[in-house]
Amino acid sequence: MIAMSAPAAVYLDWNATAPLDPAVREAMLPWLGENFGNASSLHAHGRRARTAIEAAREQVAAAAGAQPGEVIFTSGGSEANNLFIKGAAAARAPGVLAVSAIEHPCVLEPARQLARQGWTLREIAVTAAGKVDPAGDDWRETLALRPAFVSVMAANNETGVVQDVAALAAEARAAGAWFHCDAAQALGRLALDFRAAGMAAMTLSAHKIGGPAGAGALLLDRRVDLAPLIAGGGQERGLRSGTENVAALVGFGVAAERAAARRAEEAARLMALRGECEARLVAAGATVFAREAPRLPNTVYFAFAGIDGDTLAGRLDQAGFACGSGSACSSAHPGASHVLRAMGIEPALARGALRVSMGRDTNAAAIAAFCTALARAVAALRNLAAVSGMAAIT
Ligand SMILES: Cc1ncc(COP(=O)(O)O)c(C=O)c1O
Repeated sequence: MIAMSAPAAVYLDWNATAPLDPAVREAMLPWLGENFGNASSLHAHGRRARTAIEAAREQVAAAAGAQPGEVIFTSGGSEANNLFIKGAAAARAPGVLAVSAIEHPCVLEPARQLARQGWTLREIAVTAAGKVDPAGDDWRETLALRPAFVSVMAANNETGVVQDVAALAAEARAAGAWFHCDAAQALGRLALDFRAAGMAAMTLSAHKIGGPAGAGALLLDRRVDLAPLIAGGGQERGLRSGTENVAALVGFGVAAERAAARRAEEAARLMALRGECEARLVAAGATVFAREAPRLPNTVYFAFAGIDGDTLAGRLDQAGFACGSGSACSSAHPGASHVLRAMGIEPALARGALRVSMGRDTNAAAIAAFCTALARAVAALRNLAAVSGMAAIT
């Protein structure tokens, strides 16, 4: 048997994943038990499964301002991003594609794969505040290359910085490009209006909003031509074959509906907690990344000069607080975050990056306790550095 220590008592890593919402779990349970059936079967078991999936499709569409017919269910955000990027590329001759330099690896890596297959990849630069600037030279030069498609995320998973995706989408469309937006971190945290923004496609993920991991969607304008990644029985408009995971999709639907319904209230509550947290961090000497930029209400990304983020996260974990360190926020790759690098943050400071991301269970007491534990951990690590520094000199 593998020995495991108990997880931290205070969970502050909601951008990595959110705990399953108990109401979502309740809704899913019958579909893991008595309500079995293949949604493609014509008998009553199948029809019941089909009805449940279509109800979930309506819930997900409504949460993001889309039509139900525009929802392609996938196994999650990573698959939805791959489906758009590789699927759009496979349906046309190689040309130019553009993605922002701070995208999640599940956008960057498929784009880089295409670059090895004859496509010209433009990685769009961001400002020091982590934004793609719609008035900036880099964006103008990107559009002048006449890209076939462009992908810019709604909100960054590390910094929480929110992009002007409606403005970017309108300009990309005017320049003849399909605009895709990864909104995995934005659903339930920002108001999303897929149709009004005139986007070609948008990615959603269930487990960031209290739904199950392993469910997501690509919202897709019906005029966009995509080739499927998974061919077979023709489910999901022929764009994603495979027998549907009914329980997961039912859970996704309920999670999306609940996240959208409480979004405004939760945003105000979390914004207040974020403000308290940041004030204490800055008073303790931390640098808060992209502090002046519009950001997700639940996310604080910061560093203490001279203190390694992974080491600090480890100390906090032992003290009962789970938060994300920079290298763990977006990938399994060690080293300074590509997002902070793109923002021009000094690598030495970037290696100290730590992310606090809050959710529906986070309260003021948890944030106060976290800040106290953090100050203690920082002081202990500074003492240790001072002692080992002295030892090195003697
Ligand atoms: C911005 C962003 N896009 C995509 C994903 C991937 O979503 P999933 O975990 O559902 O594959 C994540 C998850 O970390 C994310 O933060």
